[in-house]
Parts: sequence; C-alpha cells; structure tokens
Amino acid sequence: MSDLAAKMRAIVGDANVITDDFAAYANDWRKKYFGKPLLVVKPGTAAEVAAVVKLCAETKTSIVPQAGNTGLVGGGVPDESGTEVIISVARMNKVLEVDTINNTMTVEAGCILQTLQETAAEHDRLFPLSLAAEGSCRIGGNISTNAGGVQVLRYGNTRELVMGLQVVLPSGELWDGLRGLRKDNTGYDLKHLFIGAEGTLGIITAAVLKLFPAPRATQTAFIALESPQKALDLLSHMKGALGDRLTAFELISAFGLSLVTKYFPQLKSPLPGDYPWFVLTDIADSRDAAALTEEVEVALGVALEREIILDCAIAKNETEGKRMWELRENMTESQVHEGRSIKHDVSIPISKIAEFISAADAALEAAYPGVRIITFGHVGDGNLHYNIAHPLATHTEPNWVKEWEKVNLIVHDTTAKFNGSISAEHGIGQLKREEIKRYKAPLELAVMRQIKVALDPQNIMNPGKVI
Ligand code: FAD
Ligand code: MLT
Ligand code: ZN
Repeated sequence: MSDLAAKMRAIVGDANVITDDFAAYANDWRKKYFGKPLLVVKPGTAAEVAAVVKLCAETKTSIVPQAGNTGLVGGGVPDESGTEVIISVARMNKVLEVDTINNTMTVEAGCILQTLQETAAEHDRLFPLSLAAEGSCRIGGNISTNAGGVQVLRYGNTRELVMGLQVVLPSGELWDGLRGLRKDNTGYDLKHLFIGAEGTLGIITAAVLKLFPAPRATQTAFIALESPQKALDLLSHMKGALGDRLTAFELISAFGLSLVTKYFPQLKSPLPGDYPWFVLTDIADSRDAAALTEEVEVALGVALEREIILDCAIAKNETEGKRMWELRENMTESQVHEGRSIKHDVSIPISKIAEFISAADAALEAAYPGVRIITFGHVGDGNLHYNIAHPLATHTEPNWVKEWEKVNLIVHDTTAKFNGSISAEHGIGQLKREEIKRYKAPLELAVMRQIKVALDPQNIMNPGKVI
C-alpha cells in the first residue's frame, strides 16, 4: 500500500479508500472517457474532506471531485496518468435541516437529487430542480455544474436555488458560507464562484437550498405542431394565458420520439398520428385541479382554433402525465441504443430558435446528405439538445464519431452567429475545454484563469477541466 493511501485511510477509515476496483468511478455515464485514478477516497464529513484535501495540497496530488458521476462532459473523470485522487462525496448524504418558515433546506453534498425532492414534498414544499438523472445525480454535482433540467422556465437554474455553500478550498481550508439569507450585500458573493465551477475551485461539502410552496395541481399536455416556429408561438400564447404557472415546456422532434418508442416499446405516443414536432408541457398551480384543467383546455382550444397547434392530449390524471414524461426522460438513453451521436447543448435567444434550427439543419444536410438530427430540449429556456446521429447511407457509428470536430464546427459556428452559448447546462469539463477558446472572449478566459490561480495556485483541483 502506498504511503498516501495509508495516510488517507488514517483520515477516512480503511473501508473508504479504494485502491483497485475503480469501475464505478473511473468512467463517465456515456462511456466516452476512461480514466485511471490513483485512489478513490470517500470522506464522511466536511472535516474529513478538508483533511484529505490538505494532504493532497501538501503532496501536490491532483484531485478530481465526484458526486453522482452522471455528468455529460467528462468533468468528474480523472486522466489516464494514474496519479489523480478521486474524492467522492457520495457518503455525505444527510439532510441537516428543513426550515419551513425560512423555506430552506440544508443538505450535505452527496444527497441524491430525488431524495431532496422527496424530502421537500414530505414537508409540503417543492425543491424544483428536476432532470432525467435525478435518481443518481447528487446535489454537489448539480451545484458544481449549475444544472438546468426541465423546470428552469419557472424556477431558474441550480444557481437560483442555492442560498449558501460550505466549500473546502484547494488549500484544505473549510469555508463555511451555509447562510440562509435572502439579503446579504457584504461584498463579493463567493458562493457564485463555486456554482458551475465543475470542481475546479474547491469541493462543495454542503448547501442551503431554496424551497417553494408545493403545487396543489399539475396539468401535463402533449401537443403536436407543424414546426419549431409554431412551438415558439405556442410558448408565447401559453405564457400569455397561464403566466408563470407554465413550469416546463419541452420540444421533441418526431425522429427523437421515434427512437424512444423504438427502444422502449412499452412507451406509446399519446398522439400516434404522423406529426413532425411535439411539445410536452406542465402547468402547475396552487389552486384546485379542476379549475386548472379548465384553463389549460381553454388555452389549448384557442391554440387549435388559431392553428398554432395540430392536436393535443391533456393528461387525465397524474399517472397519464407521468407516462408522457417517461417519453421525454428516456430520450437520452434511447439515443445511446441507436449508436453514438455527436451531442450538443446549445442555447440561443428563445425568439431565434426556429431560425437556428433551419440554419443548422441546412448546413449539416449540405455537408452530410441524409444526416439524422435529434432535436429536443428545453425550448422554453432557449436550450436545445441538438444531437447528430450518423447518416445511414454513408457512415457507420465508428466512422461518424471521427467527424466530431467538423460537425461541432458547423453547429457551434451557427450557434455563435445567433449569439448563443455552446454549453447551456452541461458545462465544459474535458469535452469542450479546447472548443470554448474559439467562442469565449480572450478577456473572459483570462479573468477565469486569474480566478483559478488565485484560489488554486498549485493547480491541483480538477486540473485539465474547464480551463
Ligand atoms: P458528477 O458527474 O459527479 O460531477 C459533475 C462535475 O461536478 C464534475 O466536474 C465534478 O468534478 C464536479 N463535482 C461533483 N461533485 C462536486 C463537489 N461536491 N464539489 C465540487 N465539484 C464537484 N444536466 C442538466 O443540466 N440538465 C438535464 O436535463 C440533464 N439531464 C440528464 C439526463 C441524463 C440521462 C444524464 C445521464 C445526465 C443529465 N444531465 C443533465 C447531466 C448531469 O446529470 C448533470 O450535470 C448533474 O448535475 C451532474 O451531477 P452528478 O452528481 O452526477 O455530478
Ligand atoms: C436532457 O435534457 O435530457 C439532458 O440534458 C440530457 C441530454 O442532453 O441528453
Ligand atoms: Zn437538458
């Protein structure tokens, strides 16, 4: 056993230092990155994290923070040098306090997101962060990626849901910013540095999260439309009719939906006709369900009359609504079964989405005739997942991934033309580290580097990620 492993064991206990079986930690969810860690260390408390990081700082050992390991940009995966230590916060999974008057919840970084949603519901509150990986991602990872998901439209990104943080800095010092304050203008708001930093500035050990009143009724609708422009017209119409009760508004292309029903045949489209585009939407209210259903029916009726939509199915009960959402939640996995696609996570001003789709589709079709595009995502937030599967006639899956750089250039240059972002919610990690240099202003990158050097002068905290 190495000297470092022995010292780590003295801090966290023998069972919590892994030296050989790295299978659950060394690869990412998509099986794109295969790392080789020196050790995996699993502290049980913030004090243990601080001691482990201090030891790494003294020995100049690189650290890779990890939570649920569902990230999509390789941020939580070590390099192949066999010298990096993964610090997993998975054992730190206690809810420390729920305060229903302050409407906050103080939690350790290793809590599974779904557990936090359930804890909030047990207290008649809502913790609105929601994404398909919620059964396995952990809040420390959600905060570190500033995760988005399907309710950003109403409640904002993770950044908007975090009120306080506790963080172990790269020196091993513990910063306790676990404050549940709605107002605090006492200088730079440090928590925002760590939110979305993808583990490059410190390890988040706990957080104070914002809670909301639990909705009394939620109405789900699955809607068929002619085009992405009609989806934008519908968004505007629904916002006008229902205000901020519109909590989710997701676009799904017919090809994307067909992959879900192909690989999950138990899931059926609520609108089996031959439609090109769909929107899945949730409307939530604190009033009773019958009144809400009526308002949604009226709003969609008007949309039908005005020919904004082609057809719609309104869920009759919660079970039917959940079934509609299963179609959306299995989109990512169904694409894995179809063969590796070249994924994108772009954002553009909402009003420009239809134009963006036309421009990017045309540029790709010109370069790769017969290209198969899976367009879906959080259109209500201006965020599209625009994934490009191999053209069947000309490419096999292994040939297709070699086109990675060329395809990215087409999609990301088109994004830039619309003043968009090449990473709306998944982060930079390793996947887009080189690519952001083309799209982010040199001054912005320089300031990011200055912040990194100020906090992590030895460059031990997740090196090689983000910048
Ligand atoms: P990890 O993968 O473990 O880590 C992610 C990053 O955070 C890494 O850089 C890691 O080093 C760092 N990190 C982890 N823990 C800490 C910590 N305690 N302190 C400091 N740094 C840390 N993302 C969305 O935004 N929206 C979606 O809708 C969405 N849907 C998804 C659906 C599926 C099926 C899958 C597989 C992923 C999806 N994701 C989505 C991506 C992913 O789930 C999120 O990025 C999530 O927030 C990552 O959480 P995690 O616990 O798995 O973090
Ligand atoms: C989603 O919205 O489903 C995710 O962000 C995952 C993905 O992009 O595949
Ligand atoms: Zn997403």
